[in-house]
Amino acid sequence: MIRGYDTTQHAARGIILMTRKSELAAARAEGWQKERLDDWQAHLPRKHLRHRLIQRSNADVDQMTAPPVYKQSSILESRLDIDMPTWLITGSSRGIGFELAKQLAAVPNGTHTIFATCRNPASATALNDLAKEYKHIHVVALDVDDDETVQGAAKTVAGLLGGKGIDYLVNNAAWSEADELDTAKADTMTAMYNTHVAGSFRVYRAFLGLVRLSERKAIINVSSELGSLGDIDDPQFAEMFGAHFPSYCCAKAGLNMLTRKIAKGHPDFIVFAFAPGWLKTDMGGPNATGEVGEAVERHIKLYESATIEQFSGKFINQWGKETAW
Ligand SMILES: NC(=O)c1ccc[n+]([C@@H]2O[C@H](COP(=O)([O-])OP(=O)(O)OC[C@H]3O[C@@H](n4cnc5c(N)ncnc54)[C@H](OP(=O)(O)O)[C@@H]3O)[C@@H](O)[C@H]2O)c1
Repeated sequence: MIRGYDTTQHAARGIILMTRKSELAAARAEGWQKERLDDWQAHLPRKHLRHRLIQRSNADVDQMTAPPVYKQSSILESRLDIDMPTWLITGSSRGIGFELAKQLAAVPNGTHTIFATCRNPASATALNDLAKEYKHIHVVALDVDDDETVQGAAKTVAGLLGGKGIDYLVNNAAWSEADELDTAKADTMTAMYNTHVAGSFRVYRAFLGLVRLSERKAIINVSSELGSLGDIDDPQFAEMFGAHFPSYCCAKAGLNMLTRKIAKGHPDFIVFAFAPGWLKTDMGGPNATGEVGEAVERHIKLYESATIEQFSGKFINQWGKETAW
């Protein structure tokens, strides 16, 4: 089964990516800007990294592909303070989405209300623990691939909000695949598009009414510089990224266009595509240069300071700078 074959499963398979520190040092010595270096490192292809791949048996992989179970979290209950900024995050069970929910929840005096969505709340142990600790975090079932759960989540959240809107809608849920142009499967590309582009679109459409009710009206589409059409011609990027990872890169390029469409359609929204940097998550892997905690702290500051003039309709990197589409 190709769908769901993400880097988590690469990790589960025991694929260990070994980055040569000397290569990174050499790139730094060439004077690469920190932010470009970070994103370069985020998705280095195998042949340049000289990854060492150590694979376990297929039995391990089979165990990882159990179908998701959709279950509403038992801890979901109405406990909303209407004065708090409201956030809806997709893909909050782990990685960047989880860290975002965690940091927002931990702000002293509970000044944020967070709808931390995930496709399988029943198994999102860390998120459920967080929601037990902080009363202003709500765990809601939402699989961006599945219309029914997206619609269901929108209804649940609208009910909890009781007339209030969503201030920050963060389209973060995603998976990746280290495929190669001449061996990649069209099915992978289709599934990737479904999650990254159609999935973000489903979420946008389902929650549009709630975003409109907000004064802030911020939509953040978490993308990657690997989705950049501009960078592919950059001599520094061309050789390294050139033909690699077609499914992921094309999906992120699609998400970038969706971002521009929303920005054109809603000039009163703050909507931007965001490249978070190479971070130590299941997707980023253990050799990533950025710590997710430190990065998300910066992300939150960027999101909160974003204005229509500065960010809307743009592709923003983790340092708050505009990057090439
Ligand atoms: N980490 C990096 O270095 C890096 C670099 C550039 C861009 N990004 C982007 O940053 C975002 C977050 O990445 P990450 O590193 O945090 O990845 P991650 O650790 O692999 O986490 C991905 C999250 O997305 C969820 N997800 C996957 N498919 C979903 C679906 N159909 N519906 C709902 N949730 C789904 C996963 O849920 P389950 O637990 O249910 O699988 C998980 O919570 C992604 O958009 C990614 O492309 C990451």
